[in-house]
Formats: sequence, structure tokens, C-alpha cells
Amino acid sequence: MQSVRVISACSSPHFLSTKGCMKEENPLPHRGPKFLKCLAPPLMAAVITLSSPVFSTTAALAQLADAQRGAALFHKTCIGCHDGGGNILQPGATLFMKDLQRNGVDTEEGIYGITYYGKGRMPGFGEKCTPRGQCTFGARLQDEEIKLLAEFVKSQADSGWPNVKSYGD
Ligand code: HEC
Repeated sequence: MQSVRVISACSSPHFLSTKGCMKEENPLPHRGPKFLKCLAPPLMAAVITLSSPVFSTTAALAQLADAQRGAALFHKTCIGCHDGGGNILQPGATLFMKDLQRNGVDTEEGIYGITYYGKGRMPGFGEKCTPRGQCTFGARLQDEEIKLLAEFVKSQADSGWPNVKSYGD
């Protein structure tokens, strides 16, 4: 019930119109804070809803969203060397399960570690990756992003890298 009440605070029909949450006398209002204030109650409601075990469909949707973020990150950062789960630099170190197992990195933790610190000709992407020479010269990834990547790579490896062409498109 609580979530319903919170939503109603800002669910007037004007909510999505630009005027809905601003004062009329100010023709060029700073949208930021007021707009945020307007968005906060529905966001709160979403948090409340997500934390309730009753809404497992919502949790499943959140998981799907994570998988899509993982796929997008992979497409952006890893695909240059690991297109389709392969490895253009080192054919014996693909992201397919048989290689991951042989090389001892077939868990999410293992994949996280190699993505964070790198190995051999694979650069590390973690914010605290050292030594510099082993790390990417490009943008570093946040811990949460590396976790999403590890989850994505593990689940792709578990299912044999299906539909590889469509990811990130
Ligand atoms: C510049 C090319 C390059 C990029 C970019 C790259 N990798 Fe790698 N990756 C490699 C190489 C080379 C290896 C083999 C390293 C070794 O074993 O010495 C490897 C190995 C791995 C392994 C272990 C595979 C195995 O079977 O042992 C994982 C997991 C991995 N990379 C994940 C990623 C992820 C996730 C990204 C994107 C964040 C990424 N890589 C980006 C080149 C790259």
C-alpha cells in the first residue's frame, strides 16, 4: 500500500508535461532540482517495489536489464579481441567454457580478476589495476561494470555464446 500512496504524490496528468512540476511565473526555470524533486517519489516507489519479494517479475526484469548492460559493455570494450567469445590474439584463451576451465578462470570471480588486472597480452580494466603496463591505456571500468561483464561472460560461456552477432546491436 505504501508504494501506491507515494506514487500518487506525483502522478497527476501533468506529471510528464514540462509545466507539471514547475512554477508558472518563472519562464526559464532551472529544471534540475525541481524536476528531480518531482521524480523522487516515483523512484522511491520503484525502490520499495523492487525490495518486496512479492514482485519477483520486477526482479527478473532487473536481471534482464543487468544482462543487457553487460552485453553493451562487452560490445564496447571487449569485442575487439573477443568477438563472438573468441580470442583473436590467443586462440587457446577464448571465452568458451572449455578454455576457461583449462585456464582456471571458469567462475565469475576468475573472469572478474582477469578483467580487472589483465594477463599476458590482455590489458586490465580495473580502476586500481597495476602495474600500469599491464593495464588499459583507455578508460578504466568501475567495479560494478566489471561485475556485470563477468556475469555476462559466464552466462554466455555456460550457454555456448548463442546469438553472438546480435549482442549490442
Ligand atoms: C587487446 C585485446 C583484448 C581485449 C580488448 C580484451 N581481452 Fe580478454 N584476453 C586477451 C588475451 C590475449 C587473453 C589471453 C591472456 C593469457 O592467458 O595470457 C585474454 C583472456 C581473457 C579471459 C580468459 C580466457 C581464457 O580462456 O583463459 C577472459 C575471461 C577475458 N579475456 C575477458 C575479457 C573481457 C571481459 C574484456 C573486456 C572488458 C576483454 N577480455 C578484453 C585479449 C583481450
